[in-house]
Amino acid sequence: MSNKMWGGRFGSEPDAIMEEINASIGVDRALYAQDIAASKAHAEMLAQQGILSGEDAGKIAQGLDTIRAEIESGKFSFQRALEDIHTHVEARLQELIGPAAGRLHAGRSRNDQVATDFKLWVREAIGRLDAALGDYQRALAAKALDHAGMPMPGLTHMQTAQPVTFGHYLLAYVEMAGRDRGRFADARTRLNECPLGSAALAGTSLPIDRDMTARALGFDRPTANSIDAVADRDFVLEALAAAAIAAVHLSRLAEEIVIFTSPLVGLLALSDKFTTGSSIMPQKRNPDAAELVRAKAGRIIGALAALLAIMKGLPLAYQKDMQEDKEATIEALNALELSIAAMTGMVRDMEPDKARMKKAAAAGYSTATDLADWLVRKGLPFREAHHVAGRIVAAAESAGVPLHRFALASMQAIEPRIEEEALSLLTVERSVGSRTSFGGTAPGNVRREARKWLKKLEKERA
Ligand code: ARG
Repeated sequence: MSNKMWGGRFGSEPDAIMEEINASIGVDRALYAQDIAASKAHAEMLAQQGILSGEDAGKIAQGLDTIRAEIESGKFSFQRALEDIHTHVEARLQELIGPAAGRLHAGRSRNDQVATDFKLWVREAIGRLDAALGDYQRALAAKALDHAGMPMPGLTHMQTAQPVTFGHYLLAYVEMAGRDRGRFADARTRLNECPLGSAALAGTSLPIDRDMTARALGFDRPTANSIDAVADRDFVLEALAAAAIAAVHLSRLAEEIVIFTSPLVGLLALSDKFTTGSSIMPQKRNPDAAELVRAKAGRIIGALAALLAIMKGLPLAYQKDMQEDKEATIEALNALELSIAAMTGMVRDMEPDKARMKKAAAAGYSTATDLADWLVRKGLPFREAHHVAGRIVAAAESAGVPLHRFALASMQAIEPRIEEEALSLLTVERSVGSRTSFGGTAPGNVRREARKWLKKLEKERA
Protein backbone atom coordinates (compact mmCIF):
# COMPACT_ATOMS: atom_id res chain seq x y z
CA MET A 1 0.00 0.00 0.00
CA SER A 2 1.37 3.36 -0.96
CA ASN A 3 0.82 6.85 0.46
CA LYS A 4 -2.82 7.92 0.35
CA MET A 5 -2.09 11.55 -0.39
CA TRP A 6 0.40 11.34 -3.20
CA GLY A 7 0.96 7.64 -3.82
CA GLY A 8 -0.93 7.20 -7.11
CA ARG A 9 2.17 6.28 -9.07
CA PHE A 10 3.94 4.49 -6.22
CA GLY A 11 3.90 0.71 -5.89
CA SER A 12 5.31 0.28 -2.40
CA GLU A 13 5.77 1.93 0.97
CA PRO A 14 8.69 4.26 1.67
CA ASP A 15 11.65 2.93 3.60
CA ALA A 16 11.41 3.55 7.36
CA ILE A 17 14.41 5.87 7.18
CA MET A 18 12.80 7.77 4.31
CA GLU A 19 9.73 8.20 6.45
CA GLU A 20 11.78 9.38 9.39
CA ILE A 21 13.77 11.98 7.51
CA ASN A 22 10.73 13.15 5.58
CA ALA A 23 8.28 13.60 8.44
CA SER A 24 7.88 17.06 9.90
CA ILE A 25 4.79 16.45 12.02
CA GLY A 26 6.79 16.56 15.27
CA VAL A 27 7.49 20.21 14.51
CA ASP A 28 4.73 21.52 12.26
CA ARG A 29 1.91 20.28 14.48
CA ALA A 30 2.53 23.63 16.14
CA LEU A 31 0.82 25.14 13.08
CA TYR A 32 -2.44 23.22 13.45
CA ALA A 33 -4.59 26.27 14.22
CA GLN A 34 -3.19 28.24 11.30
CA ASP A 35 -3.56 25.25 8.96
CA ILE A 36 -7.21 24.83 9.90
CA ALA A 37 -7.95 28.56 9.63
CA ALA A 38 -6.40 28.69 6.15
CA SER A 39 -8.34 25.60 5.05
CA LYS A 40 -11.60 27.08 6.25
CA ALA A 41 -10.94 30.31 4.35
CA HIS A 42 -10.01 28.30 1.25
CA ALA A 43 -13.15 26.14 1.42
CA GLU A 44 -15.40 29.15 1.82
CA MET A 45 -13.79 30.79 -1.19
CA LEU A 46 -14.11 27.61 -3.29
CA ALA A 47 -17.83 27.51 -2.45
CA GLN A 48 -18.33 31.16 -3.34
CA GLN A 49 -16.60 30.57 -6.66
CA GLY A 50 -18.80 27.57 -7.41
CA ILE A 51 -15.84 25.16 -7.31
CA LEU A 52 -17.32 23.43 -4.28
CA SER A 53 -21.00 22.94 -3.40
CA GLY A 54 -22.35 24.82 -0.42
CA GLU A 55 -23.18 21.50 1.19
CA ASP A 56 -19.62 20.17 0.86
CA ALA A 57 -18.20 23.46 2.11
CA GLY A 58 -20.41 23.21 5.19
CA LYS A 59 -19.28 19.64 5.88
CA ILE A 60 -15.65 20.67 5.43
CA ALA A 61 -15.96 23.59 7.84
CA GLN A 62 -17.64 21.40 10.45
CA GLY A 63 -15.07 18.67 10.03
CA LEU A 64 -12.23 21.17 10.40
CA ASP A 65 -13.76 22.48 13.63
CA THR A 66 -14.00 18.93 14.96
CA ILE A 67 -10.34 18.32 14.11
CA ARG A 68 -9.33 21.49 15.89
CA ALA A 69 -11.21 20.41 19.00
CA GLU A 70 -9.67 16.93 18.81
CA ILE A 71 -6.16 18.36 18.60
CA GLU A 72 -6.79 20.79 21.44
CA SER A 73 -8.20 18.12 23.71
CA GLY A 74 -5.30 15.78 22.98
CA LYS A 75 -7.54 13.18 21.29
CA PHE A 76 -6.02 13.54 17.84
CA SER A 77 -3.65 10.80 16.79
CA PHE A 78 -0.47 11.95 15.07
CA GLN A 79 1.50 9.43 13.04
CA ARG A 80 4.77 9.76 11.21
CA ALA A 81 3.48 8.09 8.06
CA LEU A 82 1.24 11.11 7.46
CA GLU A 83 4.30 13.38 7.16
CA ASP A 84 3.07 16.81 8.15
CA ILE A 85 0.20 18.81 9.62
CA HIS A 86 -1.39 19.45 6.21
CA THR A 87 -1.77 15.76 5.40
CA HIS A 88 -2.87 14.95 8.94
CA VAL A 89 -5.72 17.41 8.79
CA GLU A 90 -6.80 16.30 5.32
CA ALA A 91 -6.60 12.60 6.15
CA ARG A 92 -8.68 13.05 9.30
CA LEU A 93 -11.18 15.14 7.37
CA GLN A 94 -11.56 12.24 4.96
CA GLU A 95 -12.32 9.94 7.88
CA LEU A 96 -14.84 12.37 9.30
CA ILE A 97 -16.75 13.50 6.21
CA GLY A 98 -15.79 11.11 3.43
CA PRO A 99 -15.10 11.99 -0.21
CA ALA A 100 -16.05 15.69 0.11
CA ALA A 101 -12.73 16.13 1.94
CA GLY A 102 -10.90 15.38 -1.28
CA ARG A 103 -12.38 18.51 -2.87
CA LEU A 104 -10.66 20.88 -0.44
CA HIS A 105 -7.25 20.70 -2.10
CA ALA A 106 -8.49 22.23 -5.38
CA GLY A 107 -6.54 25.31 -6.38
CA ARG A 108 -3.87 24.97 -3.71
CA SER A 109 -0.88 22.80 -2.84
CA ARG A 110 1.08 22.08 0.30
CA ASN A 111 3.67 24.55 -0.96
CA ASP A 112 1.40 27.60 -0.73
CA GLN A 113 -0.34 26.05 2.27
CA VAL A 114 2.82 25.80 4.33
CA ALA A 115 3.92 29.31 3.37
CA THR A 116 0.51 30.64 4.41
CA ASP A 117 0.38 28.70 7.68
CA PHE A 118 3.88 29.71 8.68
CA LYS A 119 3.26 33.35 7.83
CA LEU A 120 0.22 33.26 10.09
CA TRP A 121 2.26 31.65 12.87
CA VAL A 122 5.15 34.13 12.55
CA ARG A 123 2.69 37.02 12.42
CA GLU A 124 1.13 35.92 15.69
CA ALA A 125 4.56 35.44 17.26
CA ILE A 126 5.51 38.97 16.21
CA GLY A 127 2.35 40.23 17.92
CA ARG A 128 3.27 38.43 21.16
CA LEU A 129 6.87 39.66 21.01
CA ASP A 130 5.77 43.23 20.42
CA ALA A 131 3.47 43.11 23.44
CA ALA A 132 6.21 41.54 25.58
CA LEU A 133 8.70 44.20 24.51
CA GLY A 134 6.12 46.86 25.43
CA ASP A 135 5.86 45.40 28.95
CA TYR A 136 9.64 45.35 29.18
CA GLN A 137 9.84 49.00 28.15
CA ARG A 138 7.20 49.93 30.73
CA ALA A 139 9.15 48.19 33.49
CA LEU A 140 12.37 49.95 32.45
CA ALA A 141 10.78 53.38 32.12
CA ALA A 142 9.01 53.08 35.50
CA LYS A 143 12.29 52.09 37.17
CA ALA A 144 14.03 54.94 35.37
CA LEU A 145 11.53 57.44 36.72
CA ASP A 146 12.06 56.08 40.26
CA HIS A 147 15.80 56.57 39.93
CA ALA A 148 15.97 59.53 37.58
CA GLY A 149 18.48 61.38 39.75
CA MET A 150 20.51 58.51 41.17
CA PRO A 151 24.16 58.80 40.10
CA MET A 152 25.91 55.70 38.86
CA PRO A 153 29.29 55.21 37.22
CA GLY A 154 29.08 55.54 33.46
CA LEU A 155 31.58 53.19 31.87
CA THR A 156 33.43 52.97 28.60
CA HIS A 157 35.99 50.19 28.10
CA MET A 158 34.60 48.98 31.47
CA GLN A 159 36.55 51.89 32.99
CA THR A 160 34.92 54.67 34.99
CA ALA A 161 34.19 57.39 32.45
CA GLN A 162 31.68 59.97 33.68
CA PRO A 163 28.86 59.86 36.18
CA VAL A 164 25.44 59.17 34.67
CA THR A 165 22.10 58.55 36.31
CA PHE A 166 20.70 55.07 36.79
CA GLY A 167 17.50 56.28 35.13
CA HIS A 168 19.37 57.44 32.05
CA TYR A 169 21.14 54.11 31.82
CA LEU A 170 17.83 52.22 31.99
CA LEU A 171 16.27 54.44 29.33
CA ALA A 172 19.07 53.42 26.96
CA TYR A 173 17.51 49.94 26.97
CA VAL A 174 14.05 51.42 26.39
CA GLU A 175 15.39 53.03 23.20
CA MET A 176 16.91 49.73 22.04
CA ALA A 177 13.65 47.88 22.64
CA GLY A 178 11.85 50.61 20.71
CA ARG A 179 14.02 49.95 17.67
CA ASP A 180 13.49 46.21 18.12
CA ARG A 181 9.75 46.74 17.98
CA GLY A 182 10.21 48.89 14.88
CA ARG A 183 12.08 46.07 13.17
CA PHE A 184 9.36 43.56 14.04
CA ALA A 185 6.72 45.98 12.77
CA ASP A 186 8.60 46.39 9.47
CA ALA A 187 8.90 42.62 9.11
CA ARG A 188 5.19 42.23 9.77
CA THR A 189 4.29 44.80 7.11
CA ARG A 190 6.30 43.03 4.41
CA LEU A 191 5.13 39.59 5.58
CA ASN A 192 1.47 40.43 5.24
CA GLU A 193 0.76 39.16 1.72
CA CYS A 194 -1.12 35.88 1.31
CA PRO A 195 0.53 33.02 -0.64
CA LEU A 196 -2.61 30.84 -0.63
CA GLY A 197 -3.77 29.97 -4.14
CA SER A 198 -0.28 30.20 -5.63
CA ALA A 199 -0.64 26.40 -5.68
CA ALA A 200 2.50 24.35 -6.39
CA LEU A 201 4.34 27.25 -8.08
CA ALA A 202 2.41 28.25 -11.20
CA GLY A 203 -1.00 29.32 -9.93
CA THR A 204 -4.13 27.45 -11.00
CA SER A 205 -6.54 27.19 -13.90
CA LEU A 206 -9.48 27.12 -11.47
CA PRO A 207 -11.41 30.38 -11.02
CA ILE A 208 -10.28 31.07 -7.45
CA ASP A 209 -10.58 34.42 -5.66
CA ARG A 210 -7.30 35.11 -3.92
CA ASP A 211 -8.40 38.49 -2.63
CA MET A 212 -11.13 36.78 -0.68
CA THR A 213 -8.84 34.30 1.10
CA ALA A 214 -6.25 37.01 1.72
CA ARG A 215 -8.89 39.21 3.36
CA ALA A 216 -10.37 36.36 5.39
CA LEU A 217 -6.96 35.57 6.87
CA GLY A 218 -6.12 39.17 7.72
CA PHE A 219 -3.57 39.71 4.95
CA ASP A 220 -3.31 43.05 3.15
CA ARG A 221 -3.34 41.44 -0.30
CA PRO A 222 -2.40 38.22 -2.12
CA THR A 223 1.24 37.72 -3.17
CA ALA A 224 1.79 38.88 -6.76
CA ASN A 225 4.04 36.10 -8.06
CA SER A 226 3.22 32.44 -7.51
CA ILE A 227 6.85 31.29 -7.85
CA ASP A 228 8.09 33.82 -5.32
CA ALA A 229 5.16 33.04 -3.00
CA VAL A 230 6.17 29.39 -2.51
CA ALA A 231 9.93 30.00 -2.65
CA ASP A 232 10.06 32.90 -0.20
CA ARG A 233 11.13 32.63 3.43
CA ASP A 234 12.16 36.27 3.83
CA PHE A 235 9.41 36.69 6.37
CA VAL A 236 11.07 34.11 8.62
CA LEU A 237 14.55 35.52 8.05
CA GLU A 238 13.39 39.04 8.84
CA ALA A 239 11.61 37.96 12.00
CA LEU A 240 14.69 36.00 13.08
CA ALA A 241 16.99 38.92 12.26
CA ALA A 242 14.85 41.24 14.38
CA ALA A 243 14.78 38.54 17.08
CA ALA A 244 18.55 38.11 16.99
CA ILE A 245 19.13 41.84 17.43
CA ALA A 246 16.59 42.01 20.25
CA ALA A 247 18.24 39.01 21.90
CA VAL A 248 21.64 40.69 21.61
CA HIS A 249 20.21 43.74 23.39
CA LEU A 250 18.77 41.58 26.17
CA SER A 251 22.08 39.76 26.51
CA ARG A 252 23.89 43.04 27.08
CA LEU A 253 21.59 43.96 29.95
CA ALA A 254 21.84 40.38 31.23
CA GLU A 255 25.62 40.63 31.25
CA GLU A 256 25.46 43.93 33.15
CA ILE A 257 23.12 42.39 35.70
CA VAL A 258 25.59 39.54 36.18
CA ILE A 259 28.45 42.00 36.66
CA PHE A 260 26.60 44.57 38.76
CA THR A 261 25.12 41.97 41.14
CA SER A 262 28.46 40.27 41.73
CA PRO A 263 29.58 40.86 45.34
CA LEU A 264 32.82 42.18 43.85
CA VAL A 265 30.83 45.06 42.40
CA GLY A 266 27.61 45.22 44.39
CA LEU A 267 25.88 48.01 42.53
CA LEU A 268 22.65 46.09 42.03
CA ALA A 269 20.69 43.38 43.84
CA LEU A 270 18.10 40.89 42.67
CA SER A 271 15.65 39.27 45.07
CA ASP A 272 14.85 35.59 45.64
CA LYS A 273 12.41 35.73 42.73
CA PHE A 274 15.02 35.88 40.00
CA THR A 275 18.01 34.18 41.58
CA THR A 276 18.88 30.67 42.68
CA GLY A 277 21.02 29.19 45.40
CA SER A 278 23.98 26.89 45.18
CA SER A 279 23.63 23.24 46.13
CA ILE A 280 26.91 23.40 48.04
CA MET A 281 27.69 27.03 48.94
CA PRO A 282 24.97 28.32 51.26
CA GLN A 283 25.90 32.00 50.91
CA LYS A 284 25.37 32.17 47.16
CA ARG A 285 22.73 33.97 45.16
CA ASN A 286 23.20 33.24 41.49
CA PRO A 287 21.74 35.39 38.70
CA ASP A 288 20.70 32.32 36.67
CA ALA A 289 17.87 34.01 34.82
CA ALA A 290 20.22 36.70 33.53
CA GLU A 291 22.79 34.08 32.56
CA LEU A 292 20.16 32.09 30.66
CA VAL A 293 18.91 35.17 28.83
CA ARG A 294 22.53 35.83 27.88
CA ALA A 295 22.87 32.26 26.59
CA LYS A 296 19.56 32.14 24.72
CA ALA A 297 20.85 34.95 22.50
CA GLY A 298 23.35 32.40 21.19
CA ARG A 299 20.61 30.00 20.15
CA ILE A 300 18.52 32.75 18.58
CA ILE A 301 21.48 34.00 16.55
CA GLY A 302 22.07 30.35 15.62
CA ALA A 303 18.53 30.01 14.28
CA LEU A 304 19.04 32.98 11.97
CA ALA A 305 22.39 31.64 10.78
CA ALA A 306 20.85 28.19 10.21
CA LEU A 307 18.00 29.47 8.05
CA LEU A 308 20.27 31.77 6.05
CA ALA A 309 22.45 28.74 5.34
CA ILE A 310 19.42 26.61 4.41
CA MET A 311 18.09 29.23 1.97
CA LYS A 312 21.42 30.18 0.45
CA GLY A 313 21.69 28.93 -3.13
CA LEU A 314 18.26 27.23 -3.18
CA PRO A 315 16.87 27.21 -6.70
CA LEU A 316 13.28 28.37 -7.21
CA ALA A 317 10.68 27.41 -6.34
CA TYR A 318 9.83 25.25 -3.29
CA GLN A 319 12.53 22.79 -2.18
CA LYS A 320 12.11 20.31 0.64
CA ASP A 321 15.09 21.97 2.35
CA MET A 322 12.61 24.66 3.33
CA GLN A 323 10.81 22.24 5.63
CA GLU A 324 13.80 22.72 7.94
CA ASP A 325 12.77 26.35 8.50
CA LYS A 326 10.41 25.72 11.39
CA GLU A 327 12.09 23.90 14.25
CA ALA A 328 14.77 26.46 15.09
CA THR A 329 12.47 29.38 14.29
CA ILE A 330 9.68 28.28 16.58
CA GLU A 331 12.18 27.47 19.29
CA ALA A 332 14.01 30.80 18.84
CA LEU A 333 10.93 33.04 18.85
CA ASN A 334 9.54 31.21 21.87
CA ALA A 335 12.91 31.55 23.62
CA LEU A 336 12.92 35.25 22.90
CA GLU A 337 9.46 35.67 24.35
CA LEU A 338 10.54 33.89 27.52
CA SER A 339 13.75 35.92 27.68
CA ILE A 340 11.84 39.19 27.44
CA ALA A 341 9.45 38.09 30.19
CA ALA A 342 12.37 37.06 32.43
CA MET A 343 14.15 40.32 31.78
CA THR A 344 10.98 42.30 32.54
CA GLY A 345 10.72 40.47 35.85
CA MET A 346 14.37 41.17 36.69
CA VAL A 347 14.03 44.85 35.83
CA ARG A 348 11.01 45.19 38.14
CA ASP A 349 12.84 43.24 40.81
CA MET A 350 16.28 44.85 40.73
CA GLU A 351 17.32 47.34 43.39
CA PRO A 352 20.35 49.58 43.03
CA ASP A 353 22.57 50.12 46.09
CA LYS A 354 22.40 53.90 46.28
CA ALA A 355 25.48 54.43 48.45
CA ARG A 356 27.71 52.13 46.40
CA MET A 357 26.41 53.59 43.17
CA LYS A 358 27.32 57.08 44.33
CA LYS A 359 30.72 56.04 45.63
CA ALA A 360 31.53 54.21 42.42
CA ALA A 361 30.25 57.14 40.34
CA ALA A 362 32.69 59.46 42.08
CA ALA A 363 35.64 57.09 42.02
CA GLY A 364 38.27 57.16 39.32
CA TYR A 365 38.23 60.95 38.89
CA SER A 366 35.05 60.66 36.92
CA THR A 367 34.40 64.42 37.00
CA ALA A 368 37.71 65.37 35.35
CA THR A 369 35.79 66.25 32.16
CA ASP A 370 33.68 68.70 34.19
CA LEU A 371 36.87 70.52 35.18
CA ALA A 372 38.02 70.60 31.58
CA ASP A 373 34.58 71.88 30.46
CA TRP A 374 34.77 74.66 33.09
CA LEU A 375 38.15 75.73 31.70
CA VAL A 376 36.65 75.73 28.20
CA ARG A 377 33.90 78.04 29.40
CA LYS A 378 36.69 80.30 30.74
CA GLY A 379 38.14 80.50 27.24
CA LEU A 380 40.76 77.73 27.09
CA PRO A 381 40.83 75.57 23.96
CA PHE A 382 39.46 72.10 24.85
CA ARG A 383 42.74 70.33 24.09
CA GLU A 384 44.61 72.57 26.51
CA ALA A 385 41.86 72.27 29.12
CA HIS A 386 42.01 68.47 28.79
CA HIS A 387 45.78 68.58 29.40
CA VAL A 388 45.44 70.82 32.47
CA ALA A 389 42.68 68.66 33.96
CA GLY A 390 44.84 65.61 33.36
CA ARG A 391 47.74 67.14 35.30
CA ILE A 392 45.40 68.05 38.15
CA VAL A 393 44.04 64.47 38.26
CA ALA A 394 47.60 63.16 38.45
CA ALA A 395 48.41 65.56 41.30
CA ALA A 396 45.20 64.73 43.19
CA GLU A 397 45.84 61.04 42.71
CA SER A 398 49.32 61.27 44.23
CA ALA A 399 47.84 63.30 47.10
CA GLY A 400 45.27 60.51 47.51
CA VAL A 401 42.15 62.72 47.39
CA PRO A 402 39.18 62.97 45.05
CA LEU A 403 38.98 65.98 42.74
CA HIS A 404 36.34 67.91 44.67
CA ARG A 405 38.47 67.65 47.84
CA PHE A 406 41.73 68.67 46.19
CA ALA A 407 42.95 72.02 47.54
CA LEU A 408 42.25 75.03 45.37
CA ALA A 409 45.78 76.31 45.89
CA SER A 410 47.24 73.04 44.57
CA MET A 411 45.05 73.34 41.48
CA GLN A 412 46.02 76.94 40.99
CA ALA A 413 49.68 75.95 41.18
CA ILE A 414 49.01 74.00 37.99
CA GLU A 415 46.54 76.42 36.37
CA PRO A 416 46.24 79.90 37.95
CA ARG A 417 42.92 80.63 36.23
CA ILE A 418 41.07 78.01 38.28
CA GLU A 419 38.60 79.54 40.76
CA GLU A 420 36.64 78.34 43.78
CA GLU A 421 33.55 77.95 41.55
CA ALA A 422 35.23 75.21 39.53
CA LEU A 423 35.62 73.03 42.63
CA SER A 424 31.93 73.14 43.42
CA LEU A 425 31.17 71.59 40.03
CA LEU A 426 33.19 68.46 40.67
CA THR A 427 30.70 66.44 42.73
CA VAL A 428 28.77 63.68 40.93
CA GLU A 429 25.45 65.44 41.57
CA ARG A 430 26.66 68.66 39.97
CA SER A 431 28.21 66.68 37.16
CA VAL A 432 25.06 64.78 36.16
CA GLY A 433 22.93 67.85 36.83
CA SER A 434 24.95 69.84 34.32
CA ARG A 435 24.45 67.37 31.44
CA THR A 436 21.31 69.07 30.19
CA SER A 437 22.09 68.84 26.47
CA PHE A 438 19.37 67.03 24.51
CA GLY A 439 19.79 63.31 25.16
CA GLY A 440 22.10 64.00 28.12
CA THR A 441 21.96 62.38 31.55
CA ALA A 442 20.65 65.30 33.68
CA PRO A 443 17.89 64.13 36.07
CA GLY A 444 15.45 66.63 34.56
CA ASN A 445 16.01 65.13 31.11
CA VAL A 446 15.59 61.62 32.47
CA ARG A 447 12.33 62.47 34.20
CA ARG A 448 10.97 64.07 31.05
CA GLU A 449 12.01 61.15 28.82
CA ALA A 450 10.74 58.51 31.25
CA ARG A 451 7.36 60.24 31.47
CA LYS A 452 7.21 60.61 27.71
CA TRP A 453 7.81 56.88 27.27
CA LEU A 454 5.34 55.89 29.97
CA LYS A 455 2.67 58.05 28.40
CA LYS A 456 3.33 56.64 24.96
CA LEU A 457 3.33 53.06 26.26
CA GLU A 458 0.15 53.68 28.22
CA LYS A 459 -1.55 55.01 25.13
CA GLU A 460 -0.69 51.99 23.01
CA ARG A 461 -2.09 49.71 25.69
CA ALA A 462 -5.42 51.58 25.75
N1 ARG B 1 6.00 19.76 5.32
C1 ARG B 1 6.32 20.60 4.22
C2 ARG B 1 7.11 21.81 4.71
O1 ARG B 1 7.10 22.07 5.87
C3 ARG B 1 5.10 21.08 3.53
C4 ARG B 1 5.26 21.33 2.10
C5 ARG B 1 5.55 20.05 1.39
N2 ARG B 1 5.48 20.20 0.00
C6 ARG B 1 5.85 19.25 -0.81
N3 ARG B 1 5.75 19.47 -2.06
N4 ARG B 1 6.37 18.15 -0.35
O2 ARG B 1 7.76 22.50 3.96
